[in-house]
Amino acid sequence: VHWTDEERDIIKTFWGKIDAEEAGHQALTRVLVVYPWTQRYFSTFGNLSKPSAIAGNPKVRAHGKRVVVALGDAIKNLDNVKATYAKLSELHSEKLHVDPENFRLLGEALIIVLAGQFGAAFTPAVQATWQKLLAVVIAALSSKYH
Ligand code: HEM
Repeated sequence: VHWTDEERDIIKTFWGKIDAEEAGHQALTRVLVVYPWTQRYFSTFGNLSKPSAIAGNPKVRAHGKRVVVALGDAIKNLDNVKATYAKLSELHSEKLHVDPENFRLLGEALIIVLAGQFGAAFTPAVQATWQKLLAVVIAALSSKYH
């Protein structure tokens, strides 16, 4: 993957302004509400019975944060995302059996959350860069599936 200086700049600038816990909580909540079949992966998380229960579930919040914090590893290693996520890909594939299509759903939810949080600053060029980053992340997380 080739990153232009402008793309690197956009990623770093916005990453510095993202509240990982809040963005992760909101994105994972959206995935679990909008695509309820994804709840099956989180059977140990307790009450996911309705949108308010999902939004108020501390395990959803903690896990959302963990996912967005993990995005930081990709951002620190933009030229080596695939290797950075090799172990995580193996975990989601072989241990958690998460269908990789779900990575796309989470990426989409995160874009919506960032658009809401940043408003007008989340310009088309900024969105394009984040979509590219998430596409690279999703490809890396999917790389150990076979
Ligand atoms: C666990 C990252 C997407 C399901 C984890 C962990 C990380 C992570 C860092 C903790 C790994 C560990 O314990 O060592 C990510 C990233 C994602 C992503 C970066 C995409 C950008 C998803 C999606 C699902 C999912 C879409 C399911 C719909 C799980 C589950 C666990 C897990 C079930 C174990 C949770 C637990 O029991 O604590 N993920 N994940 N992940 N992930 Fe993901």
